[in-house]
Amino acid sequence: MALITKAPRGTKDILPGEAHELRYIERTALETAEAFGYSEIRTPVFEHTELFERSVGDATDVVQKEMYTFFDKGGRSVTLRPEGTAGAARACLEHGLLSEALPRKVSYVTRCYRYEKPQSGRLREFTQFGAECFGAADPIADAELISLANAVFSALGLTNYRLELNSIGCPECRKSYLEKLRTFFHTKTAALCPTCQDRLERSPMRILDCKSPICSAAAAQAPRVTEHLCPDCTAHFEQVKHLLGAMEIPFEVNPMIVRGLDYYTRTVFEFVSELPELTGLVLGAGGRYDGLIEELGGQHTPSLGFGLGLERVWMQLRALQAPLPQAFPCELFLATMTGEALQKAAAIAAEIRADGWGVQYDIIGRSLKAQMKYADKIGARFTVVLGEEELTSGRARLKNMSTGAEEVLSLSEFGEAFERILLRLAQEELEEALAGGF
Ligand code: HAM
Repeated sequence: MALITKAPRGTKDILPGEAHELRYIERTALETAEAFGYSEIRTPVFEHTELFERSVGDATDVVQKEMYTFFDKGGRSVTLRPEGTAGAARACLEHGLLSEALPRKVSYVTRCYRYEKPQSGRLREFTQFGAECFGAADPIADAELISLANAVFSALGLTNYRLELNSIGCPECRKSYLEKLRTFFHTKTAALCPTCQDRLERSPMRILDCKSPICSAAAAQAPRVTEHLCPDCTAHFEQVKHLLGAMEIPFEVNPMIVRGLDYYTRTVFEFVSELPELTGLVLGAGGRYDGLIEELGGQHTPSLGFGLGLERVWMQLRALQAPLPQAFPCELFLATMTGEALQKAAAIAAEIRADGWGVQYDIIGRSLKAQMKYADKIGARFTVVLGEEELTSGRARLKNMSTGAEEVLSLSEFGEAFERILLRLAQEELEEALAGGF
């Protein structure tokens, strides 16, 4: 029975009273991206399993251990998306969006699913904001993409993070580097954790970002990828660094960043929290994936993108006590004493709601006292009582719940008069804020 009233491990209910904060983060990210030319795309929550095997890579931890894969009733293997890039790339290819007007820039907010060991900031169902730019090979595209992530953080008031940057080269230069890395780690096999001993043949670069202290110690002496890049990859990386410098975007080169997904080439980066309570938490990450579209059957289309973990971004904003919006307020509660008054309340509410203000009235037949208690509980800014007397006189007393001040309004133009009051108060608040110099 307990299972019915308990959310599955690694999932998080986002409750009334907080959901609007996540909505604000999502909207801010999508709107910031729009200013950079990114249009929103929505793709299915599940895809053919093969898509992730081909893109994310069948040797990666994500594909090997973390995917929610199942057979549907038609016997096809499908997978809940573990990340957003593969679906966005598939959809752009399928709908011919990569055959004209490049670069094609798409952004999304999606729920992702990974069967990971849950811990603070690590969920099995989480939300990614992603931005993908298809058909842009030049280093300026890398710098612009990173500046978009920075712009999202800045629009949200998110600070105390650092950008770590690396280049993992192209398949050509990586081939000889991987050989060197294998040779190096072969001399240290005994000093590696069991997972990394396993990785040695399959994906030796992953040993570099293993969190186990013994592997980190062994990796410290390992050959650096940045010292084994081909001339083109070196030039690309130098240009990206130069352009970030010119855009005044601070970064640190971290040759240990390798990323856990197979599609990356050249530039890779991570945004890492520097708050003591979230130290090391990766808020978002991305990079180039110049070969992915070809791997999925398209033309050669150099591309790049990033994904932000929005629950982590939210954690960071809360830890920073950054300003997050209030829940949508109830500006007016119409308390009613008769059936006729209730009809009038509904008409007034409809008029004011149509202009975007929050209005409520009683819909469960409560006593006047209980209605006023409820209005207080939901934080209604104003209340008005409508009964026989008010309907007969055509006037009602509007009460400001925080100051106690009252004003009599005519019922025939109640909506208009009330909205004028709201606008006047908004103007006064703005003037007060300006006088305070923000
Ligand atoms: P990723 O590094 O696997 O990259 O995930 C991106 C971000 O999603 C992470 O930096 C983190 O903030 C968040 N994240 C990942 N796993 C979890 C989890 N279990 N719980 C909470 N948050 C999580 C990608 O997914 C790539 N698709 C990013 C990308 C887009 N690269 C190019 N384009």
